Amino acid sequence: MRYETVLVDIEEKIAKVTMNRPDKKNAMNPQLIVDMSQVLEDLRYNDDAKVLVLTGAGNSFCAGMDLKEFFHELKGKKPQEYDRMWRLLQEWRGRTLRFYPKPTIAMVNGYCFGGAFPNVECCDIAIAADEAMFGLSEINFGLFPGGHVSKTLANMFRPRDALLYGMTGRQFNGKKAAEMGFVNYSVPLAQLETEVMTLAKEIAGKDAHALKATKDAYRHSLDMGWEAALNYSRAKEDELYLAQNGAWVESGIGDFMKGLYKPGLGGHEEIEKKSG
Ligand code: COA
Repeated sequence: MRYETVLVDIEEKIAKVTMNRPDKKNAMNPQLIVDMSQVLEDLRYNDDAKVLVLTGAGNSFCAGMDLKEFFHELKGKKPQEYDRMWRLLQEWRGRTLRFYPKPTIAMVNGYCFGGAFPNVECCDIAIAADEAMFGLSEINFGLFPGGHVSKTLANMFRPRDALLYGMTGRQFNGKKAAEMGFVNYSVPLAQLETEVMTLAKEIAGKDAHALKATKDAYRHSLDMGWEAALNYSRAKEDELYLAQNGAWVESGIGDFMKGLYKPGLGGHEEIEKKSG
């Protein structure tokens, strides 16, 4: 798989997806938007990729929108192309990545500005380097957190933090991002990749159907009332039973009842063998 602005490396069921414009701090230009859309489409059906890790090349995760190629060269000058790219951008993060059928982890290795916040939000899990630098820089160039970014703030930030950082453009590091709950936790940059890959392998050891159901139930419940959420969960339970050939009931619960393993202490490989 070759893309102009994105690298994909697959090893041990983990697809590492690297936004790869290090000379431009991985700012999202139209080509990167097109490439990310295609990467996600290609990996969706690739059985070698069970978990996705999203990161950036060099010392940057992603410096947000490419201010020159996205705003300066398109907005106002090529309105249809701007509209097409704007929609594609919202689509690959807001829908495709958010509801991706496989677990996703953002590995925030460095700069993460404005337009890149939704890239982090739409991954299921996010781990940052302590040294990573986050910022809502839009206010500094006279904009506001536009597109999907204000919705990311509404979804993930405490109100005081959203407005403090949105109105000042002040930077914060990975430790602070973890304290705010925007990432799960942070580790020193030197340990980041090992930490994330260990986590990715742990998740890759679980049943793929159960992982998808975990995401679906959580993400769709967010938009539902209580009755609808229960109804959806009940239907998912039966869908999962069918998708797994009954694995969670027979190998999962059945083997626990036979005393073959303790689910409270870890997984059981027979589940995935039956589930397929
Ligand atoms: N859009 C377009 N180009 C960008 C960019 C962006 N968002 N962020 C960085 N670049 C480019 C720089 O223009 C520079 O290009 P050049 O070498 O052709 O001059 C190159 O990437 C390297 O950036 P530089 O500023 O020299 O690196 P730095 O380490 O000193 O600073 C940043 C890095 C990220 C702090 C700084 O580039 C910056 O403030 N970028 C804008 C961040 C931003 O506001 N993003 C938009 C959010 S929507």
